[in-house]
Amino acid sequence: MAEEDRFYFICDWYDPHAAFIRKYQLVYYPKDCTMEMFDMKNHRPFLRRTKVDTIRPEDLYIGSRVNVLSRQLTFTDYGDKFTEKRLGQRTERSLGMIKPDAVSKLGPILDQVHQSGFLITKLKMCQLSRDDAFELYKEHQSKDFFNKLVSFVTSGPVIAFELMGGNAILKWRELLGPTDSAVARSEAPMSLRARFGTDGTQNAVHGSDSPESAAREIDFFFGPGCRATTANFGSCTCAVIKPHAVLEGLSGRIIQKVSEHFTISAVEMFTMDKANVEEFYEVYKGVVQEYPEMVKELVSGPCIAMEIRA
Ligand code: RTP
Ligand code: MG
Repeated sequence: MAEEDRFYFICDWYDPHAAFIRKYQLVYYPKDCTMEMFDMKNHRPFLRRTKVDTIRPEDLYIGSRVNVLSRQLTFTDYGDKFTEKRLGQRTERSLGMIKPDAVSKLGPILDQVHQSGFLITKLKMCQLSRDDAFELYKEHQSKDFFNKLVSFVTSGPVIAFELMGGNAILKWRELLGPTDSAVARSEAPMSLRARFGTDGTQNAVHGSDSPESAAREIDFFFGPGCRATTANFGSCTCAVIKPHAVLEGLSGRIIQKVSEHFTISAVEMFTMDKANVEEFYEVYKGVVQEYPEMVKELVSGPCIAMEIRA
């Protein structure tokens, strides 16, 4: 980013007292990590240029949720053409999916995703029904492998995630490797299908093949009324990878360690707001001294919650 850059975003803040969404224009100056805010409804400045350590250049994308002065803001749109042009390219999105044969390899797959420079912005384990599989793979309905494919992707849970990064669609397809895992092993031995796939159908991972497919598939998994989580809350406990570890790219290694001792029966990425975190940590309130710090950490970014059993 050039020194004099400034980036404009439109953002929402849900005001719990007024039960109302307030809209702001936010300007971020990467040069000195300062920002200012303008109240769009009342047409007046809301926050004078202030240094913030809770927004990093990596947080500048649509859908991002950041904390500013105890307010959780969601970036809903670019505020000007310059910001859209400059930041739009490095925030291309794709849909990745771990197929049933590789769900137990979530840890090493996430690790490779992180090493390859992608940001995961959404993630969820789901069980696809036959109808779901028909819809997801509708372009293949006339192919001779279609029935085999549907049986395979419904044979156990899958893990879907939204990936973000420069040229994410093409880059993710490269990381997958050729469709047939055997071909992948000879032509792209470091690829995910080479490492974790079995054959031409059971090939561990999926990736969107165009911006249109990416939009459709992201909506399929994460849009309104989308696929349910696999959590069933019986005979299990809850493990949470905290935001600082998610941001540092440690999720893959943590999940790998967890998998050595537990079965992971559900997993989902969340960005929690303060009210939810306070409810979640309620038993610690007034009991442990670090309660305020615990709340601050858990609202500071996305966390990954897992339902685990042993
Ligand atoms: P994907 O959509 O899953 O990312 O894979 P792709 O683009 O590399 O391959 P595509 O042609 O779209 O096929 C979709 C999935 O169908 C299964 N398949 N089986 N001959 C076969 O048995 C066969 N061919 C394809 C694979 O699971 C493939 O990923
Ligand atoms: Mg395909």
